[in-house]
Amino acid sequence: MVASLSWGRVTLKPLLDMNNAEWRTLYSYFRDRELADWNGAQPIRLPEWLFRRVMQDEERSGERHGFGILSEESHLIGSIELYDLRPSPPSQPTTATLGVMIGERRLWGQGYGREAVLATLQWAFSGRTPPLRRVRLTTFGHNRRAQRAFAASGFTEVGRSEKPGHTDVHMEMTREEWLSAHPDAGPS
Ligand SMILES: CC(C)(COP(=O)(O)OP(=O)(O)OC[C@H]1O[C@@H](n2cnc3c(N)ncnc32)[C@H](O)[C@@H]1OP(=O)(O)O)[C@@H](O)C(=O)NCCC(=O)NCCS
Repeated sequence: MVASLSWGRVTLKPLLDMNNAEWRTLYSYFRDRELADWNGAQPIRLPEWLFRRVMQDEERSGERHGFGILSEESHLIGSIELYDLRPSPPSQPTTATLGVMIGERRLWGQGYGREAVLATLQWAFSGRTPPLRRVRLTTFGHNRRAQRAFAASGFTEVGRSEKPGHTDVHMEMTREEWLSAHPDAGPS
């Protein structure tokens, strides 16, 4: 279990601490076609209770660390997670992949995604024990908004790969890069 984390206007709430209303909202985001398209996924078809159980089981096993993103009004507006932890638990992971969505479209482009990413990186590199050494992610070449948000959070593009019908952009940040950019950012 981890403490809540904040950066700017957002607070991250561990998925295992979310209440029923927050799970319902999160479920609606995962069923949304446009959000799924941006994430290269299919809208989920599981019933809500099973979606919740699968996510909770993955959290408890340490396979992923997921958070609800709360706005300054304490409303759930999205989710962010570190997954594909390597080496996989119960070994101590040093690397993880980041995924994020702001589920409320009206809030896109207002800096909430960047703040959620920064809060998560603060936890990954300075808050958790032991800290991760590297966080990576992949996004679509046409997802310019995501790339700008990730670049503004300190991620660097490390490569591109051509896939049928789209380009994948690979970005990474190391703990050394994080600490040098945020020497005073300790756990909150
Ligand atoms: C990607 C996402 C998490 C980013 O969060 P956000 O709060 O919208 O992003 P931010 O406001 O922090 O940053 C967005 C940047 O893109 C710019 N931007 C906004 N709309 C844009 C657009 N249509 N095209 C290009 N740039 C755009 C913004 O100006 C800002 O850059 P700047 O501050 O340098 O000017 C959010 O948009 C989202 O959830 N999108 C749908 C799901 C998704 O794409 N997830 C990521 C999959 S890898």
